[in-house]
Amino acid sequence: MRLVHELVGIELVDAKRPMVVARLGKRLRQLGLELAAYARLVRKDRQEQVALIDLMTTNHTAWWRESAHFTDLQKRLLPEVLSMAAARGQPPKLRIWCAAAATGEEPYSIALCIHKVMGQLPVLDAAVLATDISTQALAKARAGIYSEERVADLDPSDRTLALRSEGSAAQRRWVVRDEVRRLVQFARLNLIGEWSMRGPFDAIFCRNVMIYFDQATQARLVDRLLKLLRPGGSLYVGHAESLANIGIRLRQAGPSIHLAP
Ligand SMILES: C[S@@+](CC[C@H](N)C(=O)[O-])C[C@H]1O[C@@H](n2cnc3c(N)ncnc32)[C@H](O)[C@@H]1O
Repeated sequence: MRLVHELVGIELVDAKRPMVVARLGKRLRQLGLELAAYARLVRKDRQEQVALIDLMTTNHTAWWRESAHFTDLQKRLLPEVLSMAAARGQPPKLRIWCAAAATGEEPYSIALCIHKVMGQLPVLDAAVLATDISTQALAKARAGIYSEERVADLDPSDRTLALRSEGSAAQRRWVVRDEVRRLVQFARLNLIGEWSMRGPFDAIFCRNVMIYFDQATQARLVDRLLKLLRPGGSLYVGHAESLANIGIRLRQAGPSIHLAP
């Protein structure tokens, strides 16, 4: 538990012990190791650290999750970026970082919002950086293939814009269209490690990951995220993630949408 906290900042409280034991059990059996021997192995073997992180992270996500954020992106942030560019007499440029991208539904939902605007405004230079610590989640995100069930909550017209279907009715799967996929770049990144990018971003989505971190880690992370946003840029956090207790006061543009000073 301590090692997982050191590696990824995730706090595994005692209540999570059964979950940890269940997830680890399979790996220990595969390797034929007892827990103590496994802990020694993980301390020195980077590849095993990656495997452990993949085991311990919860990648639950969904297309259009916490939909108010995607409405805000389309109705407030994108028009704001366009009018700022027009005021400067420059072509519009949009940079968004999705910082806990999991299996891709979130960055592709962002890209779908951008794609809708680009239908009317092809000059927009837009890119979404999508990062996560889990290599398994990232592999699924890069593949961009979703079951019928995973896309069921998407509005049918949005679904058709973002995805094309493949296979028979009984085994249908949905593949992200190239026009949406090409807006997203995936990379592995540990939110509590070193970051190489410099920004500035117009928006950062860092949703439903801070809940796993202790308060000090959350405060450090939010401080670092704000430094990568342009002035007035938007930080989207999960609806259950309050910044009230970490001592950083920010203007809000909506529920769990914070504006960089
Ligand atoms: C519950 S999912 C949230 C996914 C998405 N942001 C959403 O709101 O639907 C949390 C994600 O955070 C990632 N994660 C956990 N600790 C991390 C860390 N230290 N650095 C980067 N990603 C991390 C996990 O791998 C997982 O994919």
